[in-house]
Amino acid sequence: VVTVDADRGRMQMNNAFDPEAAGTLDEATRALIERRARLLGPAYRLFYKEPIHFVRGKGSRLWDAQGNEYLDAYNNVVSVGHAHPAVVEAVHRQMTTLCTHTRYLQEGILDYAEQLLETFGGAPGAQHLMMTCTGSEANDLATRIAKHSTGNQGIIVTSEAYHGNSECTAGFSPSLGDNSPLGTWVRRVPAPDSYRIRPADLAAFFEYHVREAIADLRRHGQGVAALIVDSLFSSDGIYAHPTALLSAAVGAVHDAGGLFIADEVQSGFARSGDAMWGYQRHGVSPDIVTMGKPMGNGYPVAGVVVAHDVVAEFGRELRYFNTFGGNSVAVAAAQATLNVIDEERLLRNVRATGADLLGGLDELAQRHYCIGDVRGAGFYIGVEIVSDRDRKTPDTQLAGHIVNGLRDRRVLISATGPAGNVLKIRPPLVFNGDDAARFLETLEDTLAVVGAGIGSGAR
Ligand SMILES: Cc1ncc(COP(=O)(O)O)c(C=O)c1O
Repeated sequence: VVTVDADRGRMQMNNAFDPEAAGTLDEATRALIERRARLLGPAYRLFYKEPIHFVRGKGSRLWDAQGNEYLDAYNNVVSVGHAHPAVVEAVHRQMTTLCTHTRYLQEGILDYAEQLLETFGGAPGAQHLMMTCTGSEANDLATRIAKHSTGNQGIIVTSEAYHGNSECTAGFSPSLGDNSPLGTWVRRVPAPDSYRIRPADLAAFFEYHVREAIADLRRHGQGVAALIVDSLFSSDGIYAHPTALLSAAVGAVHDAGGLFIADEVQSGFARSGDAMWGYQRHGVSPDIVTMGKPMGNGYPVAGVVVAHDVVAEFGRELRYFNTFGGNSVAVAAAQATLNVIDEERLLRNVRATGADLLGGLDELAQRHYCIGDVRGAGFYIGVEIVSDRDRKTPDTQLAGHIVNGLRDRRVLISATGPAGNVLKIRPPLVFNGDDAARFLETLEDTLAVVGAGIGSGAR
């Protein structure tokens, strides 16, 4: 079994604005940034060397305060398109009718749960939906349930995972960096880096590290409560293949009395183009699924889908209430979003247009030495930028130049991975063929300019 160092690097936010460079910006932008820092404090980060002030969005397009139009190849929140009229109308209608919570009887949440649970393919009644407002809350609740149900404390995550911003979830989100403490009950396993490890070895590689983590948790008296995985490994650098990767590791966790939590906050709701849920690409059955981001097309709604047996005792011994989670308006937004995914056949669009994007990027890789690897599924694509193809050396600086170069040409993406050198291309589900063509052309133009003369990018 191949091993890599789980501590090989901390994810860098390669696309963050550097306040030291504010002097080069126009006066209006500088004033807005200063006001923001004064009012919102020091913990927020802005994207890009030259931050953007958006004022309007529609479909896959955004407009800034000067009226410039941008192509959004990054948004998985307003996933069925900015300002989708069906979602806007549903939220407006519900807001003008009734907004109340889950302690009163309501039909909307039941209709939604019925329709959503069907996408998981279980027997009716075998799973339940519990609603939250954010992905962090969903993962928080999922781990609470897992710890209660198993009697164990240990959580296993991938080495650069991000699962949330609450005290609990930040405690198992290593991508927050060395200054953000991990729980003593957390173990990290390396992500399945399909660029550097032979794909045929990856399932055994991943299982090996999960077994090591289980053994270490046992040695420290924690036991394993759950393995939690984002099946597209977004913050680890985006690894979508091979797909038969998780079952041996999940089997090992089950044998040790733990649960498998599929964090679908990034990979869910048709994002991969292959299936509604990312874990389904791996042929595994999670005990708990968490979801959020695109669930309400921008309205804050998230949730947990959990097997009945897993939550039965938790339900008997504890109770769950969330003031805003599952309120009538959140449900209306989620219902409308789910309907749009279905009615506009977005899964099919993601599959077809995603394949075109990947094909176009593969072609670009033949002409541009700096593209070491193109990988992904549907509308979750990673392009690894390297300075040396033989050594596969991450080129963080060049990746930053490309992200900012695209921004200057009015196309939005970002960068991810432990070295921040993986271009993260994650357009809304409505991104069409013309959008993909514009994206590829603009990337080609950008590479022709910023790729030249930096590192080995010009070769
Ligand atoms: C995989 C994953 N899980 C959980 C979260 C947390 O979601 P939220 O920001 O809604 O709390 C995120 C957010 O980026 C995420 O990417």
